Amino acid sequence: MGLFAKKDLIGLDIGSSSIKAVELDWGKKTPRLKHFGMIPLPPEAIVDGAFMDSASIVESIRSLIEGLRIKTKKVAVSISGHSVYIKSINVPTMSETQLEESIKWEAEQQIPFDIEDVSLDFQILDEQMSPEQMPVLLVAAKKDMINDYTAVIEEAGLQPTIVDVDVFAIENAYNLSFESPEDEVVALVNIGASVMNINILKGGTSAFTRDIAIGGRQITEEIQKRLKLTYEEAESLKIRERDAGTQSAEVERIIRGTAEQLASEVRRSLEFFAASSSGVEIKKIFLSGGCAKIQILPGLIEERISIPVEVFNPFTKIDYNPDIFDPEYIKQVAPLAAVGVGLALRRERD
Ligand SMILES: Nc1ncnc2c1ncn2[C@@H]1O[C@H](COP(=O)(O)OP(=O)(O)OP(=O)(O)O)[C@@H](O)[C@H]1O
Ligand SMILES: [Mg+2]
Repeated sequence: MGLFAKKDLIGLDIGSSSIKAVELDWGKKTPRLKHFGMIPLPPEAIVDGAFMDSASIVESIRSLIEGLRIKTKKVAVSISGHSVYIKSINVPTMSETQLEESIKWEAEQQIPFDIEDVSLDFQILDEQMSPEQMPVLLVAAKKDMINDYTAVIEEAGLQPTIVDVDVFAIENAYNLSFESPEDEVVALVNIGASVMNINILKGGTSAFTRDIAIGGRQITEEIQKRLKLTYEEAESLKIRERDAGTQSAEVERIIRGTAEQLASEVRRSLEFFAASSSGVEIKKIFLSGGCAKIQILPGLIEERISIPVEVFNPFTKIDYNPDIFDPEYIKQVAPLAAVGVGLALRRERD
């Protein structure tokens, strides 16, 4: 129905600790927030990237969408982790149509998965090295994982339209917020409950990506184990960290221990990137995901890597009505909304 309705799209970020939905309104020049909401998932629903309890994921999507009164059916969703393989490769110079035909063959030489088990996508990159060769960003994702995501969306009564990758969704959100000079290099680091996604951009385009299976869940589980609490009790103790003085020394020690590990993982990846691209200087790290809210983490990363860290707010170039969305709430959830906002931006342009 409606002339414009077909372009409406929900950005749906199915994270292991919560599902986030974002819908933007494109009636004006600047995108405007139409709907935003999150719903927690039980900790056993998604474990190590696998859907262990699809029924509760479907139920959560349904109540999130109903609760927000979203009418749009089309959904952009994203995947991440070890079922996704992203690599920049060089192929003989050819047209996009030619590459579409030969990408399977090119990919087969490069990816560690059976070619029949994956969906392939690619993007020809601008930077031409020589007339004979051109760089291509290759993305291979396990069909099983894509099917898991599209199945829960369909079961929730929605239409999966776009399957994206977390790191690219964050890149998309970043590029809405910032103009990137051609040679500027920044690192986007998203740390959620189970996965850390790293995307190093050069001039606004991805030059290196990596997903690492580490995140805030580790802190919750450690608190749970040490203090003999339920998962939910441990989670709320952890999040209360900001109220200085209310945290026990034990909890603070656990948070610090994991924060140190997270900072080392970021450092390792950035060093790996630096070693493979001599002379490149990373100007800034933009931190998103729920772990960006661990009070000591931004400072700790800055200290360990000697690169300035900024907590990324994906809403800076998005208008919203303060009578509908409390600005304080938007500020609090901003780092967790990066993937969802990036997905909502995937809407087909006019
Ligand atoms: N104030 C806070 N202090 C510390 N940790 C927090 C805070 N708020 C959220 N977190 C943690 O951030 C994590 C959730 O972040 P996020 O929503 O980005 O993850 P997710 O997308 O659900 O998971 P993933 O993408 O890793 O599967 C949880 O581990 C949560 O405990
Ligand atoms: Mg996430």
